[in-house]
Amino acid sequence: MKVIRVKDANEGGKKAFEIIKDGMANGAKVLGLATGSTPETLYKEMTSSELDFSEMTSVNLDEYVGLAGDDVQSYRYFMNDQLFNQKPFKETFVPNGKAEDLAAECKRYDGVIANHPIDLQILGIGRNAHIGFNEPGTPFDVTTHVVELTESTIEANKRNFEKVEDVPTHALSMGIGSIMQSKKILLMAFGTDKADAIKDMINGSVTTDVPASVLQNHADVTVIVDEDAASKL
Ligand code: GLP
Repeated sequence: MKVIRVKDANEGGKKAFEIIKDGMANGAKVLGLATGSTPETLYKEMTSSELDFSEMTSVNLDEYVGLAGDDVQSYRYFMNDQLFNQKPFKETFVPNGKAEDLAAECKRYDGVIANHPIDLQILGIGRNAHIGFNEPGTPFDVTTHVVELTESTIEANKRNFEKVEDVPTHALSMGIGSIMQSKKILLMAFGTDKADAIKDMINGSVTTDVPASVLQNHADVTVIVDEDAASKL
């Protein structure tokens, strides 16, 4: 893993943007995108840039079960609001959290990923080192699946909801197996909350207890960390 240390999230967003720009200059057509507060500075760089994304396709990592795309708390809404409304892409994919048949939706999304192999996957990381919504214990070879969110993830994500009871208990997530198929992976982490996860991911052993540790097995991973997230390295 290549580790790039930056001062803060703003500098991290700029670095990540440079990597996306280079990737696109070298032919990347499909971006794997993430939600959460971490990629926000990157999306600001993208929306304020001159770069044209109208020939690009995006495939997002995950979505809450039960939330429709026009629900302000859904990840589809977040992506439209933070990025796509300002920077139109050719096609954008996010799992459908309102699908009646969740198993069929997982299959459909696996098809989306198969038809649009990801050139560059952007990742954040959970405090428990989850990637996408692949919580500790998730086998490394799974594809898109329904996840029961852990207590700690619900706690961490409740800040975006009025009350903790409003946080969905389940999500649809791209699997670790699919994430690992991406040609290149760029993981970002900012803040002290992420320091343990970053330490375990980089210096710990590869174990399903630390989902992000699987990235040690990928040939092309760049990690952008600010001073706080890097404080235990
Ligand atoms: C959520 C998302 C992840 C994200 C993580 C960290 O659980 N499913 O993709 O990486 O939270 O979020 P944040 O960037 O807000 O710390």
